Amino acid sequence: MSCKRLKPGGKLITIEINDELREFSHSYFCKAGVDSKIIQMTGKAQDIVPGLNQMFDLVYIDGDKREYIEYFKLIVDKVITGGFILADNVLWGEKVLEKTTKDPQTRGIIEFNEMIRKDKSIEKVILPVRDGIMLLRVV
Ligand SMILES: C[S@@+](CC[C@H](N)C(=O)[O-])C[C@H]1O[C@@H](n2cnc3c(N)ncnc32)[C@H](O)[C@@H]1O
Repeated sequence: MSCKRLKPGGKLITIEINDELREFSHSYFCKAGVDSKIIQMTGKAQDIVPGLNQMFDLVYIDGDKREYIEYFKLIVDKVITGGFILADNVLWGEKVLEKTTKDPQTRGIIEFNEMIRKDKSIEKVILPVRDGIMLLRVV
């Protein structure tokens, strides 16, 4: 995600489990001139997020589709009131329409979407661009 518009002193934290992507990603952060604004963390999000003792204005979820519910539950209390969570791929190439599918990634997205649908403490809308982005506002 772009971090050019971060407020002065603002930081973007990335979490990536694949350590082989660290240098690759960093080279592009440098090319974009934003490396000083980005904190790269390498490891499993479920291990890292509980140790982040800060609040976030915006969170973007785009990891393993089987783990979206875990990511959401770990991060939602660390988002400021009025802050946003974006969840990518929530239409999953239209496979979310296959309600009885046993495909684990598709099931993960279907169950995440259903959990959010039932959660009255969250304002939500699915933006039907490309693979579907769910925009959530914590209220
Ligand atoms: C679809 S890609 C994300 C791409 C990235 N958002 C982008 O636009 O370039 C999903 C990434 O999530 C990482 N990932 C999967 N499970 C993870 C986890 N539990 N914790 C951290 N990263 C994870 C994968 O290694 C993969 O690089």
